[in-house]
Amino acid sequence: MKFLNPSMDFRTVTPEEMKKVAATEALKLVRDGMILGIGTGSTVNYFIDALKDLIAQGVRIRGVATSIDSSERARAAGVNVEEDYAGTVDLDVDGTDEMDGSGNLVKGGGGALLREKIVAYNSRNVCIIADESKFKENGIGTFRIPVEVLPYLNQMTRNQVEKIGGICIFRENGKYRTDNGNMVMDCDFGIIKDPPEMERKIKMIPGVIEVGLFANLATMAIVAGQDGVRTVNFKNFSP
Ligand code: A5P
Repeated sequence: MKFLNPSMDFRTVTPEEMKKVAATEALKLVRDGMILGIGTGSTVNYFIDALKDLIAQGVRIRGVATSIDSSERARAAGVNVEEDYAGTVDLDVDGTDEMDGSGNLVKGGGGALLREKIVAYNSRNVCIIADESKFKENGIGTFRIPVEVLPYLNQMTRNQVEKIGGICIFRENGKYRTDNGNMVMDCDFGIIKDPPEMERKIKMIPGVIEVGLFANLATMAIVAGQDGVRTVNFKNFSP
Protein backbone atom coordinates (compact mmCIF):
# COMPACT_ATOMS: atom_id res chain seq x y z
CA MET A 1 0.00 0.00 0.00
CA LYS A 2 1.43 3.34 -1.07
CA PHE A 3 0.21 6.44 0.74
CA LEU A 4 -0.07 9.52 -1.40
CA ASN A 5 0.05 11.92 1.45
CA PRO A 6 0.88 10.44 4.85
CA SER A 7 -0.46 13.50 6.64
CA MET A 8 -3.90 12.95 5.11
CA ASP A 9 -6.41 11.11 7.28
CA PHE A 10 -7.98 8.68 4.82
CA ARG A 11 -10.61 7.62 7.35
CA THR A 12 -12.38 10.85 6.52
CA VAL A 13 -12.05 10.50 2.76
CA THR A 14 -15.35 10.47 0.90
CA PRO A 15 -16.00 8.25 -2.15
CA GLU A 16 -15.82 11.35 -4.36
CA GLU A 17 -12.39 12.24 -2.96
CA MET A 18 -11.25 8.64 -3.54
CA LYS A 19 -12.22 8.89 -7.20
CA LYS A 20 -10.19 12.06 -7.48
CA VAL A 21 -7.16 10.48 -5.79
CA ALA A 22 -7.27 7.50 -8.21
CA ALA A 23 -7.64 9.84 -11.19
CA THR A 24 -4.73 12.01 -10.05
CA GLU A 25 -2.53 8.94 -9.67
CA ALA A 26 -3.38 7.82 -13.23
CA LEU A 27 -2.27 11.20 -14.53
CA LYS A 28 1.32 10.20 -13.68
CA LEU A 29 1.17 7.59 -16.47
CA VAL A 30 0.49 10.18 -19.17
CA ARG A 31 3.43 11.10 -21.43
CA ASP A 32 3.92 13.76 -24.08
CA GLY A 33 2.59 12.64 -27.49
CA MET A 34 0.49 9.75 -26.17
CA ILE A 35 -2.73 8.59 -27.76
CA LEU A 36 -5.11 8.23 -24.85
CA GLY A 37 -8.28 6.20 -24.53
CA ILE A 38 -10.69 8.36 -22.61
CA GLY A 39 -13.23 6.41 -20.60
CA THR A 40 -16.63 7.45 -19.34
CA GLY A 41 -18.10 8.13 -15.92
CA SER A 42 -17.74 10.24 -12.81
CA THR A 43 -14.27 8.87 -11.91
CA VAL A 44 -12.79 9.44 -15.35
CA ASN A 45 -14.28 12.95 -15.39
CA TYR A 46 -11.72 13.92 -12.73
CA PHE A 47 -8.97 12.52 -14.96
CA ILE A 48 -10.23 14.38 -18.03
CA ASP A 49 -10.50 17.68 -16.17
CA ALA A 50 -6.96 17.29 -14.79
CA LEU A 51 -5.56 16.78 -18.32
CA LYS A 52 -6.16 20.49 -18.81
CA ASP A 53 -3.27 21.32 -16.44
CA LEU A 54 -0.92 18.90 -18.22
CA ILE A 55 -1.82 20.39 -21.58
CA ALA A 56 -1.22 23.89 -20.18
CA GLN A 57 2.29 22.72 -19.23
CA GLY A 58 2.93 21.82 -22.88
CA VAL A 59 2.14 18.09 -22.82
CA ARG A 60 0.61 17.15 -26.18
CA ILE A 61 -2.30 14.72 -25.90
CA ARG A 62 -4.43 13.14 -28.58
CA GLY A 63 -7.18 10.72 -27.75
CA VAL A 64 -10.22 8.67 -28.63
CA ALA A 65 -13.26 9.06 -26.42
CA THR A 66 -15.71 6.36 -25.34
CA SER A 67 -18.85 8.52 -25.28
CA ILE A 68 -20.22 11.77 -26.60
CA ASP A 69 -20.06 13.23 -23.06
CA SER A 70 -16.40 12.31 -22.61
CA SER A 71 -15.54 13.55 -26.07
CA GLU A 72 -17.02 16.97 -25.31
CA ARG A 73 -15.39 17.11 -21.89
CA ALA A 74 -11.98 16.11 -23.27
CA ARG A 75 -12.18 18.71 -26.03
CA ALA A 76 -13.03 21.35 -23.43
CA ALA A 77 -9.88 20.30 -21.53
CA GLY A 78 -7.80 20.82 -24.68
CA VAL A 79 -7.40 17.20 -25.81
CA ASN A 80 -7.22 16.67 -29.56
CA VAL A 81 -10.04 14.09 -29.85
CA GLU A 82 -9.81 11.90 -32.96
CA GLU A 83 -12.94 10.43 -34.54
CA ASP A 84 -11.38 7.80 -36.81
CA TYR A 85 -7.98 6.90 -35.37
CA ALA A 86 -6.67 3.61 -36.80
CA GLY A 87 -3.61 2.83 -34.68
CA THR A 88 -3.14 1.37 -31.21
CA VAL A 89 -4.07 3.46 -28.19
CA ASP A 90 -1.11 3.91 -25.81
CA LEU A 91 -3.07 4.19 -22.60
CA ASP A 92 -6.79 3.79 -21.95
CA VAL A 93 -7.98 5.21 -18.64
CA ASP A 94 -11.47 4.17 -17.62
CA GLY A 95 -13.66 3.54 -14.59
CA THR A 96 -15.59 0.44 -13.67
CA ASP A 97 -18.76 -0.63 -11.93
CA GLU A 98 -17.17 -3.74 -10.41
CA MET A 99 -13.77 -5.43 -10.53
CA ASP A 100 -12.42 -8.71 -9.14
CA GLY A 101 -8.87 -9.62 -8.09
CA SER A 102 -8.04 -10.93 -11.59
CA GLY A 103 -9.04 -7.70 -13.31
CA ASN A 104 -12.38 -8.92 -14.66
CA LEU A 105 -14.72 -5.95 -14.90
CA VAL A 106 -18.39 -5.08 -15.07
CA LYS A 107 -18.88 -1.91 -17.10
CA GLY A 108 -21.70 -0.03 -18.74
CA GLY A 109 -23.52 1.50 -15.81
CA GLY A 110 -23.29 4.73 -17.78
CA GLY A 111 -24.25 2.99 -21.02
CA ALA A 112 -20.89 3.44 -22.75
CA LEU A 113 -19.89 -0.25 -22.76
CA LEU A 114 -19.63 -0.75 -26.53
CA ARG A 115 -17.28 2.17 -27.20
CA GLU A 116 -15.42 1.43 -23.96
CA LYS A 117 -14.76 -2.14 -25.05
CA ILE A 118 -13.64 -1.15 -28.55
CA VAL A 119 -11.15 1.31 -27.08
CA ALA A 120 -9.91 -1.07 -24.35
CA TYR A 121 -9.46 -3.90 -26.87
CA ASN A 122 -7.33 -1.64 -29.07
CA SER A 123 -5.15 -0.30 -26.25
CA ARG A 124 -1.65 -1.38 -25.25
CA ASN A 125 -2.38 -0.50 -21.64
CA VAL A 126 -5.71 -0.27 -19.86
CA CYS A 127 -5.68 1.47 -16.50
CA ILE A 128 -8.83 1.19 -14.42
CA ILE A 129 -9.38 3.88 -11.81
CA ALA A 130 -11.84 3.31 -8.99
CA ASP A 131 -12.78 3.88 -5.40
CA GLU A 132 -12.57 0.81 -3.18
CA SER A 133 -16.33 0.13 -3.28
CA LYS A 134 -15.88 -1.20 -6.83
CA PHE A 135 -13.46 -3.94 -5.76
CA LYS A 136 -15.32 -7.23 -5.15
CA GLU A 137 -13.18 -9.87 -3.48
CA ASN A 138 -15.88 -12.51 -3.72
CA GLY A 139 -16.47 -12.04 -7.43
CA ILE A 140 -18.33 -9.75 -9.78
CA GLY A 141 -22.04 -9.90 -10.56
CA THR A 142 -23.72 -8.05 -7.72
CA PHE A 143 -24.00 -5.09 -10.09
CA ARG A 144 -26.35 -6.20 -12.88
CA ILE A 145 -24.47 -6.88 -16.11
CA PRO A 146 -25.31 -4.25 -18.76
CA VAL A 147 -25.99 -5.76 -22.19
CA GLU A 148 -26.34 -3.48 -25.24
CA VAL A 149 -29.08 -4.81 -27.50
CA LEU A 150 -30.30 -3.93 -30.99
CA PRO A 151 -33.87 -2.55 -30.69
CA TYR A 152 -35.05 -4.89 -33.49
CA LEU A 153 -36.91 -7.89 -31.94
CA ASN A 154 -35.33 -7.04 -28.60
CA GLN A 155 -37.70 -9.31 -26.61
CA MET A 156 -36.31 -12.31 -28.50
CA THR A 157 -32.80 -11.27 -27.53
CA ARG A 158 -33.89 -10.91 -23.93
CA ASN A 159 -35.45 -14.39 -23.95
CA GLN A 160 -32.18 -15.89 -25.20
CA VAL A 161 -30.13 -14.12 -22.51
CA GLU A 162 -32.61 -15.34 -19.89
CA LYS A 163 -32.23 -18.91 -21.22
CA ILE A 164 -28.57 -18.85 -20.16
CA GLY A 165 -29.46 -17.73 -16.64
CA GLY A 166 -29.88 -13.95 -16.58
CA ILE A 167 -32.85 -12.05 -15.22
CA CYS A 168 -32.99 -8.99 -17.47
CA ILE A 169 -34.64 -5.59 -17.15
CA PHE A 170 -34.60 -3.09 -19.99
CA ARG A 171 -33.16 0.20 -18.78
CA GLU A 172 -35.78 2.97 -18.35
CA ASN A 173 -38.54 0.52 -19.35
CA GLY A 174 -36.99 0.19 -22.80
CA LYS A 175 -36.76 3.93 -23.45
CA TYR A 176 -33.03 4.25 -22.79
CA ARG A 177 -30.78 4.56 -25.86
CA THR A 178 -26.98 4.44 -25.97
CA ASP A 179 -24.84 6.85 -28.01
CA ASN A 180 -25.15 4.18 -30.72
CA GLY A 181 -28.97 4.16 -30.72
CA ASN A 182 -29.28 0.78 -28.99
CA MET A 183 -31.12 -0.41 -25.86
CA VAL A 184 -29.53 -1.66 -22.64
CA MET A 185 -30.71 -4.59 -20.53
CA ASP A 186 -29.36 -4.90 -16.98
CA CYS A 187 -29.01 -8.59 -16.24
CA ASP A 188 -28.70 -10.42 -12.96
CA PHE A 189 -26.67 -13.64 -13.23
CA GLY A 190 -25.69 -13.73 -9.56
CA ILE A 191 -21.98 -13.93 -8.78
CA ILE A 192 -20.26 -14.93 -12.01
CA LYS A 193 -17.95 -17.91 -11.51
CA ASP A 194 -16.28 -17.79 -14.93
CA PRO A 195 -16.41 -14.22 -16.33
CA PRO A 196 -14.57 -14.96 -19.65
CA GLU A 197 -16.93 -17.86 -20.42
CA MET A 198 -20.02 -15.83 -19.50
CA GLU A 199 -18.79 -12.94 -21.64
CA ARG A 200 -18.43 -15.30 -24.64
CA LYS A 201 -21.84 -16.91 -24.10
CA ILE A 202 -23.74 -13.63 -23.90
CA LYS A 203 -21.83 -12.12 -26.83
CA MET A 204 -22.75 -15.12 -29.05
CA ILE A 205 -26.49 -14.35 -28.87
CA PRO A 206 -27.78 -12.63 -32.04
CA GLY A 207 -29.14 -9.18 -31.18
CA VAL A 208 -26.55 -8.65 -28.45
CA ILE A 209 -24.29 -5.82 -29.60
CA GLU A 210 -21.98 -5.92 -26.59
CA VAL A 211 -21.83 -7.16 -23.03
CA GLY A 212 -20.48 -5.17 -20.10
CA LEU A 213 -18.26 -8.02 -18.92
CA PHE A 214 -14.63 -7.15 -19.67
CA ALA A 215 -12.39 -10.17 -19.09
CA ASN A 216 -8.61 -10.02 -19.59
CA LEU A 217 -8.57 -6.43 -20.82
CA ALA A 218 -7.29 -4.52 -17.79
CA THR A 219 -3.53 -4.05 -17.49
CA MET A 220 -3.71 -2.45 -14.06
CA ALA A 221 -6.03 -0.83 -11.58
CA ILE A 222 -5.55 2.16 -9.33
CA VAL A 223 -7.85 1.76 -6.35
CA ALA A 224 -8.29 4.49 -3.76
CA GLY A 225 -9.72 3.71 -0.35
CA GLN A 226 -9.82 4.75 3.27
CA ASP A 227 -6.24 3.48 3.74
CA GLY A 228 -4.73 5.22 0.73
CA VAL A 229 -4.22 4.34 -2.89
CA ARG A 230 -2.82 1.13 -4.34
CA THR A 231 -1.91 -0.09 -7.77
CA VAL A 232 -2.79 -3.64 -8.80
CA ASN A 233 -1.07 -5.08 -11.88
CA PHE A 234 -2.81 -7.73 -13.96
CA LYS A 235 -0.38 -7.66 -16.91
CA ASN A 236 2.92 -5.96 -17.69
CA PHE A 237 2.60 -2.27 -18.44
CA SER A 238 4.17 -1.58 -21.85
CA PRO A 239 5.14 2.09 -22.16
C1 A5P B 1 -19.79 3.76 -18.33
O1 A5P B 1 -20.66 3.10 -19.14
C2 A5P B 1 -19.25 2.82 -17.28
O2 A5P B 1 -18.64 1.69 -17.78
C3 A5P B 1 -18.35 3.55 -16.32
O3 A5P B 1 -17.01 3.42 -16.66
C4 A5P B 1 -18.59 2.98 -14.98
O4 A5P B 1 -19.98 2.98 -14.78
C5 A5P B 1 -17.90 3.75 -13.88
O5 A5P B 1 -18.55 4.95 -13.67
P1 A5P B 1 -18.28 5.81 -12.39
O6 A5P B 1 -16.86 6.22 -12.42
O7 A5P B 1 -19.22 6.98 -12.54
O8 A5P B 1 -18.63 4.97 -11.21
